[in-house]
Amino acid sequence: MRSAVERLLWACIILDSGVCSISLPEISDLKFIEECVKEHNWARSSVSPPATDMLYMTWDEALAITAKAWAKRCIFDHNIYLKDAPRVHPTYSSVGENIWTAYPPSQFNTARAIKSWVDEVNNYSYQNNSCNHVCGHYTQVVWASTYKVGCAVQLCPDGIKYFANKKGVLFVCNYATAGNINRRRPYASQGGACSRCSGTCENKLCRSAERDSQKSYNWSPDWDTSDTSSSSSVSILIARPVALSFTFITAQQGADG
Ligand SMILES: *[C@@H]1O[C@H](CO)[C@@H](O)[C@H](O)[C@H]1NC(C)=O
Ligand SMILES: *[C@@H]1O[C@H](CO)[C@@H](O)[C@H](O)[C@H]1NC(C)=O
Repeated sequence: MRSAVERLLWACIILDSGVCSISLPEISDLKFIEECVKEHNWARSSVSPPATDMLYMTWDEALAITAKAWAKRCIFDHNIYLKDAPRVHPTYSSVGENIWTAYPPSQFNTARAIKSWVDEVNNYSYQNNSCNHVCGHYTQVVWASTYKVGCAVQLCPDGIKYFANKKGVLFVCNYATAGNINRRRPYASQGGACSRCSGTCENKLCRSAERDSQKSYNWSPDWDTSDTSSSSSVSILIARPVALSFTFITAQQGADG
């Protein structure tokens, strides 16, 4: 027996009608911002083993503006400017990215999209720092030194390039500073929760007023040229949500191997 919600969802999928048109949040939507931050910090607080040095995450407007500017292009691939930090953020030295996509648009739910990244923990071994499938989204979400996040969601009426030529949604989160560096572990655990915090410990996260108050206003990337919903989509039919995470590979060796 299907629930009413489930039946409505099916009606949306089959009819793809205006009856089910969903409204997606803007990057200035306080409820959306709060949900993005809360879901990330919840995952960060919940790591096992507990982290000595996990920073409390707060919202960054410039990261959200960059996420939106990229999402508007409706391409299921990473922002091509990530390797050139000044083109994706006015101050931070590196920016990471997770992307989630699905169709129809009614599939989108902020908490669920983030949860799909966090669920990769089931395929991640902290002990071996290894993955048995995909876990790069998870390791970015719980990367200890990443403390700013900005996300955006975009409706793509004409499809999403490299995903499906159907009306869908792209959800992009950008992070500063970037995680997934040099195959290091996302966080240190020896010493117990918060043992290497500067600032205060809150729900197993290290919090400081200085970090919380870092703000970036009035940023706009030089490559943001609005009108871009792509209509030249290639058709890869994957009926479930999928995700991408960006990995930085640099020349240095990681401290944790
Ligand atoms: C975990 O890995 C299996 C394959 O080993 C895969 O089917 C599954 O989707 C993965 N789960 C997540 C949450 O990535
Ligand atoms: C970790 O590595 C050890 C030694 O290679 C192996 O026996 C063990 O199964 C691995 N554990 C996981 C969860 O991958």
